[in-house]
Amino acid sequence: MGTKILVIGANGQLGSVLTKELQKKYTMENVIASDIKKSDDCKGIFEVIDATDINRIQEVVERYGITQIYHLAAILSAKGEETPLTTWDINMKTLFNVLEVSRKNRIDRVFFPSSIAVFGEGAPLENTPDDAYLNPATVYGISKAAGENWAQYYFLRYGLDVRSIRYPGVIGYQSLPGGGTTDYAVDIYHKAVMGEEFDCFLKEDATLPMIFMDDAIRATIELMEAPKESITVRTSYNIAGISFSPQEVVNEIRKLYPDFEVKYNPDFRQEIAARWPKSIEDASAKKDWGWKPEFNLKEITEIMIQKLQEKYKKGSKNKEILLL
Ligand code: SER
Repeated sequence: MGTKILVIGANGQLGSVLTKELQKKYTMENVIASDIKKSDDCKGIFEVIDATDINRIQEVVERYGITQIYHLAAILSAKGEETPLTTWDINMKTLFNVLEVSRKNRIDRVFFPSSIAVFGEGAPLENTPDDAYLNPATVYGISKAAGENWAQYYFLRYGLDVRSIRYPGVIGYQSLPGGGTTDYAVDIYHKAVMGEEFDCFLKEDATLPMIFMDDAIRATIELMEAPKESITVRTSYNIAGISFSPQEVVNEIRKLYPDFEVKYNPDFRQEIAARWPKSIEDASAKKDWGWKPEFNLKEITEIMIQKLQEKYKKGSKNKEILLL
């Protein structure tokens, strides 16, 4: 039986780009995109799935004979703090539904995204290793730390092949993030290209691990395609791209837009960022499945600006409409 992939959360920042890449690799008919609402952008097969409804996931898995699931739906770090218990319910319920359907239907492989948000006080801030102490301070981070352990539990107890990456902040021109602490690093490029001043919710020296979208997508597919025997980390792999602060992005952007203005008004998201690593160590991902990032800040900045200039030239000034 060939590979049939279900992507849950296919309208999201990562999901929308990952779905297109999987469609290219595995053909349109072998990738089923799904999200809570229909997307006008998605070219291939799309099913509306509310992932809190296990019966609906089961129905789609059966209908298409799904063999792999990428479960990307979650409420992120900043948004999650508005309604802690709802965030916990949604993030955990959807994960348990995916794990249970996968176990019962003998799904070959499951992808569960984790995050640098699993770290907090007690872990080294620089070059944080995979096995550093996990002490998350956001509901999102707690749900990801718990999720990693559940992923490992399903592997150990049932042999379900769940694989996971702890993503840094993801920066891409293709889609918009929503509700994260690292979102500023996407928004800042939009403001620069639109000729607007940027109001930064982090301090200028708030260094965080980040990764370019293309690297993040490649990492995900490389991990999912790696031979089972090479996967030694069953909680979640750290992957590093680059690390930078708002001030460093601003300096790069000013090389292309010298008059770009920025104001710093740190809010509660600064508190979240302050507990996260500044850089992470990814030796296991390198060793086990050959992970290697390709894009540095200069390259990311040049590509982001060029691609967003093309988009804004073509479309309206409304970035929400533009990116859909
Ligand atoms: N980018 C995410 C966030 O800020 C971290 O996983 O919530």
